[in-house]
Amino acid sequence: MKTIAIDGFSSTGKSTVAKQLAKQLGYVYIDSGAMYRAVTLFALQHGLFVDNQIDKAGLVSELDQIDIDFNFDLNDQKSHIYLNSQNVEHLIRGMEVSSRVSHVAAIPEVREKLVALQRKMSKTQNVIMDGRDIGSVVFPNADFKFFMTATPEERARRRFKELKAKGDDISFEEVLENLKMRDDIDSSRSHSPLIQTEDAIVIDNTTLSQQEQLQLMRSYIDNYL
Ligand code: DC
Repeated sequence: MKTIAIDGFSSTGKSTVAKQLAKQLGYVYIDSGAMYRAVTLFALQHGLFVDNQIDKAGLVSELDQIDIDFNFDLNDQKSHIYLNSQNVEHLIRGMEVSSRVSHVAAIPEVREKLVALQRKMSKTQNVIMDGRDIGSVVFPNADFKFFMTATPEERARRRFKELKAKGDDISFEEVLENLKMRDDIDSSRSHSPLIQTEDAIVIDNTTLSQQEQLQLMRSYIDNYL
């Protein structure tokens, strides 16, 4: 089975291009960030945030109660994430989860559980997975590794537009601050920090259109895969 890893900072458009590539290549797209978000939603639903701090021991003791799965919806032709049999695709995208997920993703036991699940998903199908530790930890022998980046301001601008379109009442400054905070926690945590591996191809898309980016990544894949 083949694996393509896409890592990078928040809001660099990893999932957009990963979905496009998956469709073109006939691979299954797996959004590993959605899995960390689903665990965060579980913690919120079970009162495991106290004064905005995650109760780590409490969450770790309940990890066995968390079942995460992806199901393809024939109606909208998209893959949706399920937390304990409930479709939570929309619930995991708001600021409530976004502002807390980095703290949950820094817990080693959470990472171990999700990495095992991610590896299992790649056993029987060709996958393209995006995240922070896919090329470094989950699939160190991936057939292809990309590392995506863009300036914080450009990424915040894109994210702000998306959230506004969904009707979120949020300022650009809040989005920028949240994004920088997540970059910082994701890159500096001790367990599986976001790093650029030596064998990853760096894609800086600050000034690239989605189409240009897709063509660029596709040309690398077509030449070497
Ligand atoms: O890609 P995203 O913004 O949906 O990711 C949500 C959070 O999960 C983000 O703070 C980084 C973390 N994450 C991670 O630590 N490892 C991954 N493989 C994917 C996401």
